[in-house]
Amino acid sequence: MKKQLIVFALLGIFALAEEQCPENSFLKDDKCVCKAGYYSESADKCLKCPDNTTSFPGLYYNTYPEATAGDCRKCQNNYYVTGKATKEKSATCSKCPDHSINRRQLEDVQTEAEACTECEYGYYWDNSSGKRVCSPCGSEGAIPADKEQTGKNPSFCNNCQAGYFMTKAADEKAGTAAQCSKCPEYSGSTIQTDVGSIANCSCEDRLAEKLSESVQTCKCKAGYAGQVSNSSAVSGCEVACAENASKYDGKCACKKGYYGINAAYGGKCEKCPELTISNQCHRGDCNTGEERGKITSCNSCIENYYIVEFAGGFGPDAKAATCKACPENSYNEEGGHGFCKCFDKYADSLNYSSTKCECKYGYTGNVATTKDGTGCVKEGSSNSGSSGSNSNSGSSGNSSSNSGSSGNSNNNSGTSGNGSSNSGSSGNNNNSGSSINNENSGKKDKETSESQSINVNTNSANLQILALMMQLAILI
Ligand SMILES: *[C@@H]1O[C@H](CO)[C@@H](O)[C@H](O)[C@H]1NC(C)=O
Ligand SMILES: *[C@@H]1O[C@H](CO)[C@@H](O)[C@H](O)[C@H]1NC(C)=O
Ligand SMILES: *[C@@H]1O[C@H](CO)[C@@H](O)[C@H](O)[C@H]1NC(C)=O
Ligand SMILES: *[C@@H]1O[C@H](CO)[C@@H](O)[C@H](O)[C@H]1NC(C)=O
Ligand SMILES: *[C@@H]1O[C@H](CO)[C@@H](O)[C@H](O)[C@H]1NC(C)=O
Ligand SMILES: *[C@@H]1O[C@H](CO)[C@@H](O)[C@H](O)[C@H]1NC(C)=O
Ligand SMILES: *[C@@H]1O[C@H](CO)[C@@H](O)[C@H](O)[C@H]1NC(C)=O
Ligand SMILES: *[C@@H]1O[C@H](CO)[C@@H](O)[C@H](O)[C@H]1NC(C)=O
Ligand SMILES: *[C@@H]1O[C@H](CO)[C@@H](O)[C@H](O)[C@H]1NC(C)=O
Ligand SMILES: *[C@@H]1O[C@H](CO)[C@@H](O)[C@H](O)[C@H]1NC(C)=O
Repeated sequence: MKKQLIVFALLGIFALAEEQCPENSFLKDDKCVCKAGYYSESADKCLKCPDNTTSFPGLYYNTYPEATAGDCRKCQNNYYVTGKATKEKSATCSKCPDHSINRRQLEDVQTEAEACTECEYGYYWDNSSGKRVCSPCGSEGAIPADKEQTGKNPSFCNNCQAGYFMTKAADEKAGTAAQCSKCPEYSGSTIQTDVGSIANCSCEDRLAEKLSESVQTCKCKAGYAGQVSNSSAVSGCEVACAENASKYDGKCACKKGYYGINAAYGGKCEKCPELTISNQCHRGDCNTGEERGKITSCNSCIENYYIVEFAGGFGPDAKAATCKACPENSYNEEGGHGFCKCFDKYADSLNYSSTKCECKYGYTGNVATTKDGTGCVKEGSSNSGSSGSNSNSGSSGNSSSNSGSSGNSNNNSGTSGNGSSNSGSSGNNNNSGSSINNENSGKKDKETSESQSINVNTNSANLQILALMMQLAILI
C-alpha cells in the first residue's frame, strides 16, 4: 500500500516536472533543456534547427547562454554532413540515395560513399548505370550477401533474409535474385546462403514438431496439444491426455478405474477388470508409470463389494484385486478397504469368517434390510434399545475418490444372499476386522467361525500400507 502511494507520488512529481518544462524542452538532470533538433540560450524559447540538421540535447550541448544554430552540428537520419558547422552556422546536409542508410551520424564532412553504406532490406548497391544507387532485389526476402559492395544486377541478391528459406539460387546469367519463401507462422530462420527447404525454418515453440516437407506448419508434437507459442521461452503446448485420462499435476493420469504405463505423456489407459477400480492418484502416486501403471493398481472394489484377495504379483502373474459382493443386508463404500457393514446398527460386525448380518448379543429379531432401517431390538424390550454403541463409524483407509460410482452400485441390496465361500482351510487372519467398525459391544455369542483362506499377496506395496494401517487400528 505505502509503496504504491510512494510510486504514485513520484510519478506525479515527474509528470508535473515534465509539464513545467516549456514547449520543446524537457527535464534533464533537474534542468529544462531543449529537445534534440532544437537549440536555445534557455529552455524558455527553444528554436528549431535548420532543415535536415539536428542537435544533441543537454546543457552545454544545445541549451546554454551562447547557444546558436551552430550547435546543430549533425544531420538527421539518412543525411550526412557536407559542410561542417561553425560557431554561428549549422552544418550543411545532403541526403543519402533513396533506399540507402547512414548508420552513423558524424559532425565531420563525409562523401556519400562513406556516409551511406548500406541499402535497405531487399535492395542492393547497383552501379550498372555508372552511378551507385540502391536497386530492388525484386524477389521477396532476397538480400545481398555483402551489404556494402556493389553489383551489376539483382543476382547480387544471393541470400535470403532471416525468417525465409531459399527455394532457388540467384542466377548471375539470367540476372535474377535468389528466390525465398517465408517461414511458416511461429517459426524463423537465420540468414540463408544456400538453397534449402522448409526444414531450415524452426518453430519457436520448443514443444512443436520439427518442420519438414510433411510438416509445413508449427504445431505441438505428438503427445502434446494446444496452440504453439511464438517464443522459445514459453511453450503453448501441453501434455495431451489419452481417452480416459486427465490432467494431474501437469501430466496425465488415468481416470479412476483405469491404469496405463505410458499415460503420463498421452499413452493409453486400460480399464480395470470388472468390479475393481483404481485411484487416479493417491498421495502423489498415480496409476501410470512402470510401477503403478499396471493392473495391480486396480486394488480396490466398486461400491458394495469388498476385497477378498489383494491385487499383486509381477509380470504375467500380476492381477487386480478380487472383489466379492457384500453379504445380504450390508454395504460398503466404493474403494472401501474394509469389510462390508451391516445396515443394522445392532448387528455384529462382519469379518472374513462372519459373513452374515445377525443381531448381536443381547438383541433379537431380524436385522434391518435397509440402511439405518429398524431391525434388531434389545431383548426384553419392545422398542429398539438405547444402547450407546455406534456401529456406523467410518472405515479407515477409504479410497480418496468417492464420487461418481461406476456402474454397478447398489447391486447387492437384498439379493445376493449367501455370503462368501466357506472353504474350510485355515489361514492366518490377523488383519481381519480392523477397519470395519468400532462397535465394542462385548460378547459375541455366535458359533466360532472357521477361518477362511485369504490369499494375501505381500508383494503389493499397497497391501503393506494397508497392513500397517490395520495394525495401527488394532493397537488403537
Ligand atoms: C534538406 O533536404 C532536402 C532534400 O531531402 C533538400 O531539398 C533541401 O534543400 C535540404 N535543405 C537544406 C537547408 O539543405
Ligand atoms: C561497379 O563496382 C565494381 C565494384 O566496386 C567496380 O569494379 C566497377 O568498376 C563498378 N562499375 C561501374 C560502372 O562503376
Ligand atoms: C538448411 O538446410 C540444409 C539441409 O536441408 C542444410 O544443409 C543447411 O545447412 C541449412 N542451412 C542453414 C542456414 O541452416
Ligand atoms: C509473436 O509475439 C509477439 C509478441 O511477443 C506478437 O506481437 C506477435 O503478434 C506474435 N506473432 C504471432 C504470429 O503470433
Ligand atoms: C474410455 O472409456 C469409455 C467409456 O468410459 C469407453 O467407451 C472407451 O472405449 C474407453 N477408451 C479406452 C481407450 O479404453
Ligand atoms: C468375526 O466376527 C464375529 C462376530 O462379530 C466374531 O465373533 C469373531 O470373533 C470375528 N472373528 C475374527 C477373526 O475377528
Ligand atoms: C473417506 O471418505 C470420506 C467421505 O466418505 C472422506 O471425507 C475422507 O476424506 C476419506 N478418507 C480418505 C483417507 O480418503
Ligand atoms: C448385479 O449382479 C449380478 C451378478 O452378481 C448381475 O447379474 C446383475 O446384472 C447386477 N445388477 C446390477 C444392477 O448391476
Ligand atoms: C444360498 O445357498 C443355498 C445352498 O447353497 C441355496 O439353496 C440358496 O438359494 C442360496 N440363497 C441365495 C440367496 O443365494
Ligand atoms: C498373527 O497374530 C499372532 C498373535 O497376535 C501372531 O503370533 C502371529 O505371528 C501373527 N501372524 C502373522 C502372519 O502376522
